[in-house]
This record gives sequence, structure tokens and C-alpha cells, in this order.
Amino acid sequence: MCGIIAYIGTKQAYPILIKGLQRLEYRGYDSAGVALLNGDLNIYKKKGKVKDLLDFAENKNLGATSGIGHTRWATHGKPDDNNAHPHVSGNGRLTIVHNGIIENYALIKEALKNEGHVFHTQTDTEVLVHLIEEVQNQDDLPIEEAVREALTRVVGAYAIVVMDKNDPDKLVAARKGSPLVIGLSDDGFFFASDGTPIVEHTKKVIYLDDEHTAVVNRNGDYEIRTIDNEIHTPFIDELTMEIARMEKGGYDYFMLKEIHEQPRTICDAMRGRLNAKEGWIRLGGVDDFGDNVRLAERFIIVGCGTSWHAGLIGEYLFEDLARIPVEVEYASEFRYRNPVIRPKDVVIAISQSGETADTYAALELAKKQGAFIYGIVNSVGSSISRMTDAGSYIHAGPEIGVASTKAFTGQVTLLTLMAIKIAKERGQITTEYYQRLLQEFDRIPQKVEKVLKSNDLIKYIASEIKDSPNALYLGRGYNFPVALEGALKLKEISYIHAEGYPAAEMKHGPIALIDENMPVVVIATNKSLNEKIVSNIMEVKARKGIVIAIVSEGDEEINKIADYTIPIPETEEPFSPLLSVVPLQLLSYHIAVMRGCNVDQPRNLAKSVTVE
Ligand code: G6P
Repeated sequence: MCGIIAYIGTKQAYPILIKGLQRLEYRGYDSAGVALLNGDLNIYKKKGKVKDLLDFAENKNLGATSGIGHTRWATHGKPDDNNAHPHVSGNGRLTIVHNGIIENYALIKEALKNEGHVFHTQTDTEVLVHLIEEVQNQDDLPIEEAVREALTRVVGAYAIVVMDKNDPDKLVAARKGSPLVIGLSDDGFFFASDGTPIVEHTKKVIYLDDEHTAVVNRNGDYEIRTIDNEIHTPFIDELTMEIARMEKGGYDYFMLKEIHEQPRTICDAMRGRLNAKEGWIRLGGVDDFGDNVRLAERFIIVGCGTSWHAGLIGEYLFEDLARIPVEVEYASEFRYRNPVIRPKDVVIAISQSGETADTYAALELAKKQGAFIYGIVNSVGSSISRMTDAGSYIHAGPEIGVASTKAFTGQVTLLTLMAIKIAKERGQITTEYYQRLLQEFDRIPQKVEKVLKSNDLIKYIASEIKDSPNALYLGRGYNFPVALEGALKLKEISYIHAEGYPAAEMKHGPIALIDENMPVVVIATNKSLNEKIVSNIMEVKARKGIVIAIVSEGDEEINKIADYTIPIPETEEPFSPLLSVVPLQLLSYHIAVMRGCNVDQPRNLAKSVTVE
């Protein structure tokens, strides 16, 4: 949800900003822009992708050793050149890039108009930079003080970087609700929405906290203060990301690369945590806070999008194996619903980015009400990971494709480890079953590898159904959330309308949609519910629907009735989502490519949703 990059130092800023914007493009790609300061202030901004900005800026005056850049996911004001960031103050002295929403911008705008300010865009960000200008002018303040003072008048979320033409050796930044990382190097300072644009320049970073401001100086000095003007001594962290994991590595799209990385990322999520031979699972978060987690009376899982789907699988796992009652909540609903949270509830947040605004706010609420907060997060050092009481990183590496794939299987891997471990510790499963689960779970990465070998078959099926305007996804038990996830994958990247349903619910509505043009993807791997799902397939076939069935290897019965079958290896039922979701990821990928869609950057979506 908007990406920010800024640099001040001894190197040329433009190449750093452009490369940084390319890394951050997953956060929004409606428009991109840079402001470069070198005596003069040069601003170049363009509707569209970073590539469009690059073409536009070619042969322009790009020399500067400080600058700020932005890639936008539009909220206030349509995506066009004019509304693109950076925005400028009325006197042309200040420029700003902003990620977030200034909720009281309309009121501020009215007040500023009365003072004679003229606005040229529909954005809330332009209002903010005019407000900073107004505050600066009133008391002739240095830029860092004007920013701090202006922010005390603002309601909403922001990560900002501000550049002052009259104070060219400084950059000023602040955050509340939206992420911002500061990179410290011998060649200068960097600001970015996450570590991905910084890591190739320096590993030393500071994660700016909420309601903190930072001023960095070309001479190497920096200072962090709270909005209330208290000096803060920051903790200097180390970035651990690998640059290779942020490149496409020979694949056409990041999404395809990330789908194929899953055998390894699932292994990475298990590494040091599962030892099937010795029969143990170790999870720091659970081991260190055993009583909070083990003695929980209820788990409340919160998340959004694909992470919410992982949470639904968590519900099946925790209830089935550990016998802990579970509620799974959309974070956006939970936070506004006045939910009942009890002292022995554990709230589990699931988030790839660790920055989703609704999930963050849901946790703040739960924390205020005294719940213990556990995070299952991918992005190390992110806001959500820092506010939890305990947690486990999934270690999937940067996920760049907007449609989540390897983060989903990483989240499910962690939930599965937790469920088996807690089930054992609460005495809910026998030692024999526990050992069997461990042995089988250890084999999951190899089995995912095997599923990936069906790529050609899946591509062929994709070619057969790619022109359908609609699709239905059906699953039962553990595979019902997989049906939801399969439908989400298809709609977000190929723009085909798709819905996921519990297979048995089909007859309460969606069955009315089935005719000879409707592809129905049925996940039919559950042994315990096999007969029921066969009946559901018969119901679809009786209405001439096109059945694509994901089946366990050797399932001859479904093979005979379905139009297409994709066999996947057998496994213990609680682990089946980790295998059955993979063909659905590939199916949506191939359909989207065949329809000419931009798989990694689907329209209107963003990877990290830092607005409500
Ligand atoms: C966006 C992304 C999804 C993601 C969801 C939740 O909608 O496009 O892929 O599942 O946000 O994000 P999170 O980072 O909290 O998992």
C-alpha cells in the first residue's frame, strides 16, 4: 500500500530510488515519482508502473545526492500524473512522500484554504505538506520541528519522508501505523517501507516506531524523537534477507518462482522446529510461554485475505488435534465488533507482511483487553511481529507476487506444528499418533515437490477452462478453506469471478449456476468424507458442470466421473491443504498468463494493505 524510498548521502540518488521503487512496486503500482534535490528541486512523476517513470525521466536532469521516491496505491484521488507523489508545498520549498491516510484532511484543507493555500491535487498528502509549510512559516521552524508540530494536528496513518529545499543536507521522516525502516551506511542514509531496497546498500537498520520522527543529516548525524519531542535511543537491527530471494531467478513471474519455492520454504518453516527421528517439535513462542498457550481456553485467530484462509485451516487443526475451541475472525470485522475477549484467550495474528492495518488494529484492541498475543508472521521486524507477546516467523523470504502462495503454506506449516505440539502437551493425541504425524509431516516438502511435477497437466486443464467467466471451488473439512483460497487466487490474478464453497453447501445456492459452461474445481482428497464428496461431484455432473477434481493418487472412482483429475500424493488428512492448494495456485497462474494478465501486479490490488 504505497512504497516509500529516500536517500541522502554521497552517492547519486536517482539509481538508488529507481531500484528501490522497483523492489517496492508490489506495494502499489498506480503511479510512481521521485523528487531530486541538488540546488534545484526536480520532480518527475508518472501514472503507471516504475517502468513508465523510468521512460519519462530519461534524458532529464537526474543528478542529485538526495531524493525521495514513491510508488502509489491510490486512496484519495484517482491514479494520474497529478495525484502521483511526491507532493509539494505551496511555496515550492517542501516535498513529501506519504504512505497511509490522513483522516482529518478535509478539515485541515478547509482551514488552510482560508489561510490562502491553493491545492492542485485531490490527495490528503498535499494537504499534509501544506500544513507542514504553514507551521514552518508561522514560527520560522526548522523542518524537523515543523514536521513534528504538524503531525500533532493530524489524525490517521502515515509514513512520510520530507525534503526541504532550504535545508538540503537533511531528510525528515515520521511514522504512525505505516511502516518505515531507516538504513545506516557510510555512504549515507536510506528510508524505505521495508528492508528490500536497503539490503544491498547496508544491513544496519532502525525500524522506526509509531509516533516517532527521525532527522538524518548528510554529515552522518541522526536523531530520533517522539512526536512529543522526547529524544529516543533506537535499537540498531540487522537485516537478514538474501538479495537472490528478491530476484525472479529465471522464472517469468515472481508468483511462479514462489510457487516452486514451496518445498524449500516449507522446510525452512520446519527447520530447527521439527525432528521426526527424535520425536520432538520445538517452537520458541510456545515453549517460552507454555502456560499462556497450552492452558488457553480459546484461540481467536485474526487475519485478512489469504492469511485469514490459513487461519481457517488453523481452526480445523486446533479443534481436531488439540481440542481447543477456535474462532477465526476477519481482522477488519473483529476490531469494530466489540468482541468478547476473556483472560484465558490467546489471540493469534496471521500476516505475511506484518503490516496489515486491520490486523494490527485488531491486535491493539485484544492487547488492551488483556489477551495474550501470538504472531505468525513472515516479514521480520514488521509492526505486527514487534507488538506480539510471542510468535513464530515463517521464514519464507520476501514474497513479491501480490497473490500469496509460499507465505500461505508457511503459515499453514506453522499452525500445523503448533497444533501437533499443543495436542501432545495437552494429552489429546496418543504417542503413536503423534509419532505418525511427525514422520509424515517431515515428508511434506518432498510431496509438494511431487505435486509441482503435475505442472504440464495443470497447464493443459488451464487452457481448457481459461475463457470461462465464472468458476466454483468446492471442498469439505480441511479442504474447505483450500476451496476459498483457490477461488481467491483465480479471481485476484485472472479476473474470473470465482467462489469457494463447502461442497455440501452447493445445493443451497451455487448449484443454480451450474451448466455446461461452469468449471467446478472439487478438492476430493479427504478419506473420511470421500463418499460425500463423490455425491457432490455426481450432483455437478448431473447438471453438466465441468469437474476438475484434485484427488489422492490411485483414486479410480473419481477419475471415472470427473472431466479432469489432478492426482496428488496421499497424506494424513490434517496435512492435505499443504498439498491440495498447490495445483490450485498453478491453475490460477496458468489461466492468468493465458489471459494476458499481469500475474505479479494484478489491477487494484496491493501486497501490503496499510489502510483500513
Ligand atoms: C492483501 C494481499 C493478500 C494478503 C492480504 C493480507 O490483500 O494482496 O495477498 O493475503 O493482504 O495480508 P497480510 O500481509 O496481513 O498477510
